[in-house]
Amino acid sequence: MWIARAQTVLLCLLVILASYSHANNSTTLKSEKRLKILAIFAHLGKSHFDVFKPLLVELAHRGHDLTVISHFPRTEQATAEEPLPTYKDISLLDGKLGVFVNVVDLNSINAFGVPVVIRDLYMLHSMSGITCEICLKNPEVKRLVDSGEKFDLLLVESFNSNCYMALVHKFNAPFIEISTHQLMTWAIDDLGLSNEASYIPAMFTRLPRPMSFFQRMINAATILFSTMVFHTVFHWQDQSIANKYYGPGLPDLRSVSNNASFMFVNTHYSVHGAISFPPNVIEVGGIHISPKVKPLPANIKKFLDEAHEGVLYFNLGSMVKTATMPEDKLNVLIKVFASIPRKVIWKWEVNEIPKLSSNVLVQKWLPQYDILNHPNVKCYFGHGGLLGLSEGVQAGVPMILMPFYGDQYQNAIAAQARGAALVVNFATLDAETLMHAVDEMFNNTRYNENAKKLSKAYRDRPSTPLETAVWWTEYLGRGNALPYVRSEAANMSWCQRNLIDVMLVLALLALLSIYVSFRALKYILARRKKKQEEGNDGTSSKKRD
Ligand SMILES: *[C@@H]1O[C@H](CO)[C@@H](O)[C@H](O)[C@H]1NC(C)=O
Ligand SMILES: *[C@@H]1O[C@H](CO)[C@@H](O)[C@H](O)[C@H]1NC(C)=O
Ligand SMILES: *[C@@H]1O[C@H](CO)[C@@H](O)[C@H](O)[C@H]1NC(C)=O
Ligand SMILES: *[C@@H]1O[C@H](CO)[C@@H](O)[C@H](O)[C@H]1NC(C)=O
Ligand SMILES: *[C@@H]1O[C@H](CO)[C@@H](O)[C@H](O)[C@H]1NC(C)=O
Repeated sequence: MWIARAQTVLLCLLVILASYSHANNSTTLKSEKRLKILAIFAHLGKSHFDVFKPLLVELAHRGHDLTVISHFPRTEQATAEEPLPTYKDISLLDGKLGVFVNVVDLNSINAFGVPVVIRDLYMLHSMSGITCEICLKNPEVKRLVDSGEKFDLLLVESFNSNCYMALVHKFNAPFIEISTHQLMTWAIDDLGLSNEASYIPAMFTRLPRPMSFFQRMINAATILFSTMVFHTVFHWQDQSIANKYYGPGLPDLRSVSNNASFMFVNTHYSVHGAISFPPNVIEVGGIHISPKVKPLPANIKKFLDEAHEGVLYFNLGSMVKTATMPEDKLNVLIKVFASIPRKVIWKWEVNEIPKLSSNVLVQKWLPQYDILNHPNVKCYFGHGGLLGLSEGVQAGVPMILMPFYGDQYQNAIAAQARGAALVVNFATLDAETLMHAVDEMFNNTRYNENAKKLSKAYRDRPSTPLETAVWWTEYLGRGNALPYVRSEAANMSWCQRNLIDVMLVLALLALLSIYVSFRALKYILARRKKKQEEGNDGTSSKKRD
């Protein structure tokens, strides 16, 4: 049953796992004040936690006290390599449920006959119920709440649920939300950013850039619809689970969430577009990427070093179970890879792939970022998950992207709009389209040039994404935040923020003035006509005389 449950919810996992490592030493000075920080990251997707982990570890390096509620407690190995005495885990890990790695079945990915937005919302909603329940009913979490322990600040994920706001309310401390992907439509709304509907294709839409009039209409409607569903159907579930464990007397969870001091987003304008964010929305795209490129395992190094003709790197991330690839699609891949005069390195978690040509190296696990940085790697064939895509951008490798679900479409489309990637459609994939895409990557220098330019712009920042996130976290710890950093639009009603009320009154006034002018003109014309007629009467009567 858990497997079936997992099957229904796993599609919502929006970001892939990518190889990750972290420098031992903090790159900045120790903080002046030791903060007590509570992190609440209850989602089951490992790729989400991979975005939070470097920040948590770095905060611990800097001497802050961390209590981390998650499904990903530090492993014994990690603790042995580097003990972090101020990092304390509260594990939500359930042996039966496990966490989500290699679970997405490619046969079922497009098997639903309902619109994407409905399907995705349904998945997100079922997953939200499960994770929320697991977290709030956890006895250790409850003990922590009852202990009355005080924290300086809280870190909470911004994703598919507001239910952790119950804990935020209990601890009554300022908090930072972290989004591991492009902002969810409801987060956009809560931050008062709804104007971006006119130029940023939202999550669930799969719309291209730039958008036509009709596409903008779909975009706006999707944002309105999904936000409305979140603030009703999702909200009812969140509130009822929260009330069950921490009620009665809980405030409306939405009003708590509206009080967020900061939002960290795992995007960067160079890829996802220049969005006008208020000062409390901080872009930390690429925060998970290690500052160092590590040496490659010997066999991979040899393979890449000798591949002067160029290498195509193929990896669909940690979520997709590549073994569920339908036979016809697998044959397309094998055929195209065999036909190109290049080498191919392929991540595949099962042993045998039949009919494989000699230019292809298959491995169950690959150090992705280190491979992407090898000068002979000329193309990254991936699925558009944000972690992998960010690594591809950072390394300056042109990409072929084949999105499957979640935010992968919007990420892939954004990279394509920057000229650094080509998007191919999995459902209609054939040898011809894939061959065309591969030819473009290797034989059209435009993609390589754009990828290099994009990489330069992506990496060139006042401070690294990790330093940025740490700085703003400590800024909040120093007590400088609300009300200064937040947009005043954030707690306005939708009508007020978008000037709908003002526009309505102005439109009424315009109509009224048109009407008044019209009446006045009519009156003047009528008078003039009457005068003329009187005049005419006068002359005609004179003539008659
Ligand atoms: C981190 O530091 C510890 C000792 O403090 C050391 O044993 C370990 O090898 C270091 N790890 C890395 C990746 O540098
Ligand atoms: C950490 O940095 C200090 C100086 O800032 C240096 O002395 C030490 O060797 C570094 N440790 C590691 C494990 O890199
Ligand atoms: C909002 O946050 C401040 C502290 O950051 C707190 O004093 C206030 O009670 C919070 N309001 C709500 C509705 O949670
Ligand atoms: C690129 O061009 C060369 C020479 O015209 C050709 O042999 C090759 O198949 C083309 N495609 C790729 C992916 O290299
Ligand atoms: C927005 O916040 C201000 C002060 O923080 C408050 O006075 C006002 O009532 C709030 N508006 C709404 C719609 O909640």
